[in-house]
Amino acid sequence: MCAHVNGRGRTLSRKLFTVGPVHVDSEVLKAQTRPMITHRSKEYKALHVSVIERLKKALDTDMDIFLVAGSASAFLEGAVRNGVKSDVLGLTNGSFGNRWIEISKANGKNVKEIRVPWGKAIKPADIEGQVTDNIEAVHFVSNESSTGVLSPMGELICEIKKQNDPLIFVDAVTSAFGTDLNLKKNKVDALVFGSQKALGLPPGIGFIAVSEELMKKAKEIPNRGFYTDLIKIKKNNDDNSTLTTSPVSLVYALDFQLDRMLAEGAQARFRRHREMADIVRKWSSKLHGMLPEDGYMSDTIGVLNRGPMDFDKFHASLKSKGYEISNGYGDVKEKTFRIGHMGDLRPTDIKELLKVMDETLEELK
Ligand SMILES: Cc1ncc(COP(=O)(O)O)c(C=O)c1O
Repeated sequence: MCAHVNGRGRTLSRKLFTVGPVHVDSEVLKAQTRPMITHRSKEYKALHVSVIERLKKALDTDMDIFLVAGSASAFLEGAVRNGVKSDVLGLTNGSFGNRWIEISKANGKNVKEIRVPWGKAIKPADIEGQVTDNIEAVHFVSNESSTGVLSPMGELICEIKKQNDPLIFVDAVTSAFGTDLNLKKNKVDALVFGSQKALGLPPGIGFIAVSEELMKKAKEIPNRGFYTDLIKIKKNNDDNSTLTTSPVSLVYALDFQLDRMLAEGAQARFRRHREMADIVRKWSSKLHGMLPEDGYMSDTIGVLNRGPMDFDKFHASLKSKGYEISNGYGDVKEKTFRIGHMGDLRPTDIKELLKVMDETLEELK
């Protein structure tokens, strides 16, 4: 492992430019080492209510937010288990949209699927006339991590609501805190995310923001599970705790991180992510460009076309210099590679990575 002080004086113990888990600043890692407390203690409850309040501020929402020791998938499952008796519409343009469809099916739901080609955004025209009366909820991924496509969430919500009034579930695993989701305008019923992406924390916390409508629907649904029962989870959350044991050390890290995030400001954070994305997009023209269609590229994940490059060889060399990026994923695994630019990474870090990538490409010529 190499320790390295970058241009801004931050210590990067290792250079992860991955899609998640992402690089975690050493100060954040250190914040986890505060003495352990129990999740039913007065101290924990004070911590819990404080992180939830600041999460709402950072996301600019009044929705209830719950957390669980687990990964985001716990609440992708939770949304479906609590909000759908029978019929759900699953939109997909990549691996993670497919995953949510798989989760719904695994929970016995009847899924109507709309599949959009990989690399394309899901657009209102793709769902015209599809939100029929039987559809209780629509789920889709905001930022598809396999293709680096950011779908137009606000436009999709408008189109769904024009047709009918189902619940709207959004996987914001790789968009929350890196992209402005404008939740006050874009009303959703479940927004799911995890700690290991643009929050810049280690993996291990799953989050869900829920609407009152989803909580109302949950009351009518039997078999919500135990771990994923939003009614039970809300009862504990209202008492400033968790249903099952809270990942206390990670909540310490979240506590530390939220103060830094609020000090930076949400809009400045989004601009920083956009700036990093722009640098990667520009650089991609040296190779074979970006996979996603123009106008819908993610601000947190760059998915670049590989061309004839031997990625394994390239990446082995990059790793030997202490830098790590991510392989392609799913159907486009062999055609692409991915650069994660989210969380606490900065444009200077991206420029440094790209310089090393340039050198490595030159060496392999
Ligand atoms: C868009 C998206 N959705 C869902 C997941 C699954 O999240 P988790 O592994 O935290 O359950 C990921 C993980 O990379 C993701 O990128």
